[in-house]
Amino acid sequence: MKILVINGPNLNMLGIREPAHYGRETYGDLVKKIETYCQSKGIECECYQSNHEGCLVDKIQQAYGSFDGIVINPGAYTHTSIALLDAVKSVSIPTVEVHISKVEEREDFRQVSYIRLACVKTITGQGTDGYLQAIDFLVNN
Ligand code: DQA
Repeated sequence: MKILVINGPNLNMLGIREPAHYGRETYGDLVKKIETYCQSKGIECECYQSNHEGCLVDKIQQAYGSFDGIVINPGAYTHTSIALLDAVKSVSIPTVEVHISKVEEREDFRQVSYIRLACVKTITGQGTDGYLQAIDFLVNN
């Protein structure tokens, strides 16, 4: 089992940005947490972060044929990007959408998720544990 974990814009600022929404763990802490979890379960994983929509599309396309599952937190591109939706649809790899914060309790503009239309599951409001729950879901389904 090989899982690609993708984080979109501003998630490299974890630990610094809006801790009331996103907590105090840094992006480095998150990567370590995911890698340790995957190692303990015998899962291969790769973590990738970019602030650029096209780079995220490229990464999803490159996953075709080499990953069994994708965990993605597209950040603000969740609410705007049809390109990311189409990329996930293109590769047909089971994909779980993760949000650290409880997006459903936030602003109206955060209530739209394009990528959700191509995802097998959405996890919100679980902090960074949501990424581990997403990995579990991909492993067990
Ligand atoms: C987020 C929620 C998005 O609305 C926001 O733009 C982010 C982070 C989350 O993890 O809760 O960058 O995806």
